[in-house]
Amino acid sequence: MQSIFETIKKIAIKIDYAIKTEDLGYSDSENSSGEEQLKLDVKSDYIIELAFNDISIVKALVSEEKEGVLELHPNGIYTICYDPLDGSSLADVNLSVGSIFGIYKGELKGENLIASAYVVYGPRIELVIATKKGKPLHYRATEGLFNFIGEITLKEKWNINAPGGTQQNWSNHHKTFIDALFGEGYRLRYSGGMVPDLHQILLKGGGIFSYPETSDKPDGKLRQLFEIIPFAFIYEQAGGQAIDSKGKRLMELVPKHPHDTSPCFFGSNYEIEALKKAYKVKT
Ligand code: AHG
Repeated sequence: MQSIFETIKKIAIKIDYAIKTEDLGYSDSENSSGEEQLKLDVKSDYIIELAFNDISIVKALVSEEKEGVLELHPNGIYTICYDPLDGSSLADVNLSVGSIFGIYKGELKGENLIASAYVVYGPRIELVIATKKGKPLHYRATEGLFNFIGEITLKEKWNINAPGGTQQNWSNHHKTFIDALFGEGYRLRYSGGMVPDLHQILLKGGGIFSYPETSDKPDGKLRQLFEIIPFAFIYEQAGGQAIDSKGKRLMELVPKHPHDTSPCFFGSNYEIEALKKAYKVKT
């Protein structure tokens, strides 16, 4: 497993360099969800594929940017599901973006995720790694080397509200819930990049990130294997919660297709309990 984390560190340095130096325009291709791919998406995906090609414990890769599973090493143990450059459409306005990695053993479903990691490309490069051994571990890169900063623990309650999706397409009960948080003094912090938005909540101590079902996206937008389950694991390991709109733990998701999406909510305990009341979830 350590070889996977060391490879992610090398990948992070390379993708960061690509973000800083390469063309920010669109490529000629689309990803499997029919979205136009940026040249940076394609490049980041290539960097990751090439890097894991050398790691024999990696059995297969599943990328947000590709259809299907790429078999690497038949005797490998782990499948890595990754979003090479989440929020890449924010790179041209110079906002932070990120890479997300979910490491699965066996069938690709939440309960088989054994570790996850994400990288934030911002003013600095930061990395968070979570395993079942304890709290998520936070690193920051200086001159190409990652230094350990500390463990991440969410408070029971804090003040960040990061509400995703187009507001005019929210349900009334979701709008009431979000407004109620602002009424309690919560502050809006939403960049449109899942990685920096969730990272901010983790490091500042708490709050809630939501991407609900909307009238135009009844199954939400964010993808279970590459985005939701890896972050759900990190939030739970940090002492928070991650659920869907029925109150089910996101770690219990069983995707039918690698690109399946789900409504999702990540937060500290107070905010997620408030969400359950607002959504009338039976506990
Ligand atoms: P993309 O990679 O197409 O830029 O999408 C980013 C994702 C995710 O990172 C973010 O949380 C969400 O989409 C934002 O979507 P909305 O703009 O609909 O809130």
